[in-house]
Amino acid sequence: MSDVVVVGSGFFGLTVAERLAEQFGVDVAVVDRRPHIGGNAYSEAEPTTGIEVHRYGAHLFHTSNERVWEYVNRFTRFTDYVHRVYTTHHGEVYPMPINLGTVNQFFRSAHGPDAARALIREQAAELGDRTPSNLDEQGVSLIGRPLYEAFIRDYTAKQWQTDPTELPASIIKRLPVRYTYDNRYFNDTHEGLPVDGYTAWLERMADHPRITVTLDTDFFDESQPVNKSATVGRVPVVYTGPVDRYFDFAQGELSWRTLDFEQEVLPTGDFQGTSVMNYADADVPYTRIHEFRHFHPERDYPQDSTVIMREFSRFAERGDEPYYPINTATDRERLEAYRARTAEEPQVFFGGRLGTYQYLDMHMAIGSALSMVDNKLAPLFGAGVGSE
Ligand code: FDA
Repeated sequence: MSDVVVVGSGFFGLTVAERLAEQFGVDVAVVDRRPHIGGNAYSEAEPTTGIEVHRYGAHLFHTSNERVWEYVNRFTRFTDYVHRVYTTHHGEVYPMPINLGTVNQFFRSAHGPDAARALIREQAAELGDRTPSNLDEQGVSLIGRPLYEAFIRDYTAKQWQTDPTELPASIIKRLPVRYTYDNRYFNDTHEGLPVDGYTAWLERMADHPRITVTLDTDFFDESQPVNKSATVGRVPVVYTGPVDRYFDFAQGELSWRTLDFEQEVLPTGDFQGTSVMNYADADVPYTRIHEFRHFHPERDYPQDSTVIMREFSRFAERGDEPYYPINTATDRERLEAYRARTAEEPQVFFGGRLGTYQYLDMHMAIGSALSMVDNKLAPLFGAGVGSE
């Protein structure tokens, strides 16, 4: 038997596995119920075009965490891709996030930063001293009604399948408006896409003589050699699956939003001229279209075909892929109850986005896995060989 079992081969699980194997000389068994490694960051070449498609939604790597940046560069180089997003509203394309270019295009104006700031401040004052009682009022109080209704209201309604007047104000805490023409999407120090793709990066992390990865293996399937009752209590387990599933949903199910993707190969070299186009209006059923060739302009992709993916958002049901935690008051109560139960399982370490019920960017998942190794797992394996 291995020294430790890691459930889930996403960035969290693979970071833990790689560090334990390399730094502490530990034998690690990784299991994943999917037929491939990498969790939601997995990508593959679309067979007819060779264009790399991110199967679970577009993944852009960015971080300001130097430790994470140094770590990920052990497994891949990054391109100099810089992410920019546009949005279509009433037949016109605007730059996102809302910036001076968006404001001036929308109001047909030529404001400088101070004038734009004054305009938005005035429009955002509509509610006076009243505290916003729902997401609609919150949006108006943050950026004023015109910009909120054009760019946020219907897009949010599509994401949540709910009228924003019926959504809690707390969903949107900030709506940043940039009073410059900078429409770079991320503000982080480091940004880019893995030169050879995500799957090559993830495979290099798993490629260690002390790591075995077994796919198509559900940790709760008793017929599999590595399963919950065969391992918990015998070896330490790092569990990155859904925390409610681990406890058989005993405290109730945690709620998630999921996404449906509709992929299409089109006979053109360029469909939309950019990688991500949002659709802000209610009459378009999808929230955005990704065109994957634009993530890698440096690659020699075909000039006569392209791959696009329309993204639709809805509430997840059991069996759907959980993507974004909804985090209602009930969810928070249930999560507290699950957290109390995880404390009763000292040999099981819950991590990653599903194991902790929180949205984590890739760099956050990797960073928190490195912290788990430092703080919780190193004390168990600290006497191992090859320590750094
Ligand atoms: P992840 O979900 O990747 O891995 C968990 C693994 O556990 C899965 O492979 C699953 O099959 C496995 N598992 C679950 N239950 C199991 C069981 N019972 N038995 C065996 N295996 C089991 N981040 C970013 O930095 N930039 C971006 O652009 C994006 N974009 C993005 C788009 C969308 C639509 C989403 C939903 C997420 C992003 N992310 C992102 C976030 C990114 O996907 C996230 O950081 C990583 O997936 C987190 O890695 P984890 O290992 O925590 O989970």
